[in-house]
Amino acid sequence: MNIVWHQHKVTQEMRSSQKKQKPCLLWFTGLSGSGKSTVANAVDELLFESGYHTYVLDGDNIRHRLNKDLGFSDKDRVENIRRIGEVSSLFVDAGLIVLSAFISPFSSERRMVRDMLPDGRFIEIFIDAPLDVCEQRDPKGLYEKARKGDIKHFTGIDSAYEKPEAPELVINTSELSLNECARKVVGYLGKRSVI
Ligand code: ADX
Repeated sequence: MNIVWHQHKVTQEMRSSQKKQKPCLLWFTGLSGSGKSTVANAVDELLFESGYHTYVLDGDNIRHRLNKDLGFSDKDRVENIRRIGEVSSLFVDAGLIVLSAFISPFSSERRMVRDMLPDGRFIEIFIDAPLDVCEQRDPKGLYEKARKGDIKHFTGIDSAYEKPEAPELVINTSELSLNECARKVVGYLGKRSVI
């Protein structure tokens, strides 16, 4: 391969000290309808209001543009997560606190993203809500379609979701209010000296 890595003059350390924060990737994983994007956006707002430099990436938006060529087969989901992992890792390198909200149903792909980042920069947040609660919420009407067989390979119905075994944080959105969920994440970041 005739490509040589170019070492940038402005390093990640310089960017993070300019921004006065520890860049990291908050990886929100969970079922569709569990509240990943909602909690990620609420955390984003709290951090932004406190002057931190952040960015949210989420499945529904990324699949409209960058990953619009991908569907929901196991192979496409893996590629979806690989690309998001790479994009997130670039943003972390740019000095940002990145909040990525993707179902990311497979443990091996979440591990792959963890391994893309320097040690301690990947924070896995399991947005834990029981399937029946997600199905009852059904904000986009997709569970109903999946039950009827109109959508195939729907996570939790006819496609697997592997629960994280050792996430940094578990947030139960069926027991806590949105504000409590967001504050729990921000509290954790404080404890870890990210902010
Ligand atoms: S992932 O599995 O590849 O990580 P991603 O988070 O990007 O999924 O996209 C999930 C979103 O796509 C869901 O919130 C839902 O709105 C929509 N969607 C459409 N079809 C499916 C499906 N078969 N399984 C899961 N989500 C689907």
